[in-house]
Amino acid sequence: MPLMTNASSEPPPGAPGDFAVDLYPGGQLHRALAALRRHNPVSAVRFAGRPAFLISGHRELAEAFRDNARFPPADAYRITIEPVQGVTFQTMEDEQHRLYRNLATPAFRSRAVSAMEEEGLARIAHELIDRLGGVRRADLAAAFTHRVAFLVISRMLGIPARGEEMFRDWAVGFLEFPRDPERSRRCAAQITDYLLPIIAERRERPREDVISALILADADGHRLTDEEILAHIRLLFSAGASTTTDALGNLLFALLSERSRWQQLQEQPQLRENAIEELLRWETPVAVLPRLSAPHPVEFGGVQIPPATFCLFAIAAANRDPAVFAEPDRFDLRRDTKKKLLSFGPGPRLCPGLHLARRQLRVALDVLMERLPGLQLLEPEAAQPRGAILRGPAQLSVAW
Ligand code: HEM
Repeated sequence: MPLMTNASSEPPPGAPGDFAVDLYPGGQLHRALAALRRHNPVSAVRFAGRPAFLISGHRELAEAFRDNARFPPADAYRITIEPVQGVTFQTMEDEQHRLYRNLATPAFRSRAVSAMEEEGLARIAHELIDRLGGVRRADLAAAFTHRVAFLVISRMLGIPARGEEMFRDWAVGFLEFPRDPERSRRCAAQITDYLLPIIAERRERPREDVISALILADADGHRLTDEEILAHIRLLFSAGASTTTDALGNLLFALLSERSRWQQLQEQPQLRENAIEELLRWETPVAVLPRLSAPHPVEFGGVQIPPATFCLFAIAAANRDPAVFAEPDRFDLRRDTKKKLLSFGPGPRLCPGLHLARRQLRVALDVLMERLPGLQLLEPEAAQPRGAILRGPAQLSVAW
């Protein structure tokens, strides 16, 4: 147990940078997080230039995820995404969160999603590889990993094929909030203009897609308005696109930077499912999740936290806590991670897209292994995952 510390909002000596700004490529992030965890599972750090606390112990983080009183989940999202995304269950608390989550998440499990899981995912992966044509080299991030998840969401929504590329550009631009608020707002408005006639059309003639499922959803007599449907579609992109994109990039980095892993999964496909679970532990895309503490002083893990202070849920650190995972820095294709991963945020906010995310990773991996078995990573250094909030490779230069 750490000693009781008194609201020291000063980072410990040698504390690493600023988690909102610094890139922490490759092992840098994990070394920084391990040092903080050894110092104290709840440590003072800096975030966006301000004092913050970082929770790095597995036990402490699992507790914090379930503690809405000390760490109300919606407050941080109200600042970081609501101004451009609109009001969704992500920015609601308690009963209202439950009601709207029930209303909007069956759409993620609708028949549109099942149909996508069965055949659509593989088709998207094949199409992207077909587009590479006869070349033998590519940046797989630009050509593949940065596209799959956006296409999956567009197709689940039922966006016409001719609008897909444009729609992806708007979705990417919308996700620029708060870095580039003007571009983000412009793209959000373009998404709205494009979708409103489609929503009106689906209200008249529902189809087997997620927009129709959102229109038809009913929880305790509540129905979603057009603006609520639009906000929840924006949420699909903000929560479901970059996360899965980065997970897929991290998976390819993990397998190609140590090519024996790629080889082993070629020879033993039965290990692929486990490899994905291990990836979600070893290099999870939501490495550090910012929350705000309650609007009054709270005590957590023996530390006094001032009101409304950023508290960083360091999922990447908890997933490598040696108290829970032996040799945590080792990527072990046979490791049993069951019920111990914090990557999808346990508790009332558990990721409703986790099943779809896992299927996307699996199908993309199977298709790549079948179509491009000779993949080689050309610039491992440049392909290292980077970023702390969302973490993935910016480029994956490969040959085959
Ligand atoms: C590997 C990919 C993914 C990871 C690592 C991931 C991770 C997470 C985490 C950690 C949370 C909890 C956030 C919190 O506690 O504040 C979350 C929530 C959420 N995720 Fe995912 N996610 C992934 C993919 C997806 C996909 C594909 C979708 C939808 C298509 C999705 C939709 C959501 C939504 C809507 C929430 C908000 C839940 C709520 O506030 O009740 N995620 N995700």
